[in-house]
Amino acid sequence: MNILVTGGAGYIGGHTVVELLAAGHRVVVLDDLSNSSPAALTAIGAIAGAPIPFVEGDIADRDLLDEVFQREGFEAVIHLAASKAAGESVAQPLRYYQNNVGGTTCLLACMASHGVKTIVFSSSAAVYGEPATMPIGEDCPTAPVSPYGRTKLFVEELLRDIHAADGAWRIEILRYFNAVGAHPSGLLGEDPSGEPGNLMPYIGQVAVGRRDSLAVFDNDYPTPDGTCIRDYVHVVDLARGHVKALEMLRDRPRLAIHNLGSGHGSSVMEVIRAFEAASGKPLPHRIAARRRGDMAICYADPSLAREQLDWTPQYDLGRICEDLWRWQRNHPHGFRD
Ligand code: WQD
Repeated sequence: MNILVTGGAGYIGGHTVVELLAAGHRVVVLDDLSNSSPAALTAIGAIAGAPIPFVEGDIADRDLLDEVFQREGFEAVIHLAASKAAGESVAQPLRYYQNNVGGTTCLLACMASHGVKTIVFSSSAAVYGEPATMPIGEDCPTAPVSPYGRTKLFVEELLRDIHAADGAWRIEILRYFNAVGAHPSGLLGEDPSGEPGNLMPYIGQVAVGRRDSLAVFDNDYPTPDGTCIRDYVHVVDLARGHVKALEMLRDRPRLAIHNLGSGHGSSVMEVIRAFEAASGKPLPHRIAARRRGDMAICYADPSLAREQLDWTPQYDLGRICEDLWRWQRNHPHGFRD
C-alpha cells in the first residue's frame, strides 16, 4: 500500500517505517522534526537500502497536507506525530491539545476530503490512568490522569464518532505500553532531546557515561522488590504490530482497539540487572524520591492483539537491553554524534 507515516522520523515512527518497507509497502514520511532528526531518516534509509521520501511539516498545515495527499495518492495513514511527554503535558496543556487533538482533526479532515479512510492511530496505555484491573485489557475503563493521556483518549473518541457517521472508515487504535530498545542493526534508536524522562534512554546514557547515575524513583512500592513494574515491549515488535494492524484493516471497514504490550511486568531493578548483564558492567544508580503520577504496577493483557492481529512480541527484556546497548554505545550522543 501507499502510506503516509506522520511522525515517521521519530523513535517509534522510524522503526515502523523500516518494517512497512520490509513488508513491501511504499512510505512517505511527514515530520516537523520538533522531536526528531534528519539523521534518523538517513539511518532508516540505510537499513531499508533506499532513501526515505520525506516532507518536513506540521499535521496542522492543511495546505501542505492537501498538496501532499494530492501528489502522493495515499491509501492509508499511520499517525504517530504527537507530543508525548506526560509530565510536560501538565505544564503545557494547550500545546498538547493544539498539537495532538487540533493537528489530528486537521489530518482527518484532509484524509476525508481526499477519500482516504484507513488509519492506524498511535494511542497509549496512558488512557487507562490508574487502571481498575491488572493486567489491563482493552475493556478496562479509561481514566487518563494527564493532559497527554486525555489528548489520546479524545482522539480515540473522535475516531469512534467518525466511524459511527461513516462505516466506510477502517480505523485501528493501538494502545502502546512501554516502547523500548532499538533496531538490532545499531543504526536506529531512541534519541530524546535534553534529559531523558523515561527509564530506558536514561539507563543508556548512564551506561555510556553521559549521566553519572540513574535515580530510581523510590523502592517502597507494594511490589516484590519495592520498585515500579511496567510492561516493556521491544520497539521492533511494536513496529511490526502496525504492519499487522494495517493488514487486518484490509479485510473490511471496522474500528478496532488493541493493547500492544508484552503481557509481562518488569520492575525497575529487574531492568537494571538485565541491562548490566547486556552491557557487562555495573550501572550506577541510587534510590530517590517518588515521581508524581507514577503507579506501582502496569502491564498489558495482549491476548486480543494475539488473536485478532496475529501479533505476538518476539523479543524479551534481555534482547531489549542488548539492542539498546548496541545502539547507545555506537551513538553515545544519539544522532548528534
Ligand atoms: C518507567 C519506570 C519510573 C525514569 C511512559 C510515559 C507514558 C507512555 C509510556 C507514551 C517508572 C521509573 C523512570 C527514571 C525511574 N509513553 N523511572 N527513574 O512512566 O511507565 O510511561 O512511557 O505513550 O506516557 O510516561 O515510563 O520510562 O518514564 O518510567 O526510576 O529516571 O521507571 O518510576 O516506574 P512510564 P518511564
